[in-house]
Amino acid sequence: MVTQPEPGVFCAFRKQCPHAGRPVDEVSRRGIRCPAHGSMFDLATGEPKNGPAGKPLRAAKVRVDGERIIITG
Ligand code: FES
Repeated sequence: MVTQPEPGVFCAFRKQCPHAGRPVDEVSRRGIRCPAHGSMFDLATGEPKNGPAGKPLRAAKVRVDGERIIITG
C-alpha cells in the first residue's frame, strides 16, 4: 500500500492489518482504512488513528525512480 502524505513524499506499508490480519484496501486523505473492523491508520507513519487496531501497519521501503515508485523491501 503506497501513500503520498504530502506532495513528493511517498510511504509504503504492508497490507496486513495488525488487528486481525485482513488486508487494508482504502486510502483517502483521512488515512488508510481497514474494511474489516474500521481501523484507520496514519498516511505517513502507519500508526493507528482509531481502533480496534492497537499497533501500526508494517512499513515497507520505497524508492522513487523518475516517475516510478519502487517497493524495495
Ligand atoms: S482486521 Fe483490520 S480492523 Fe480488524
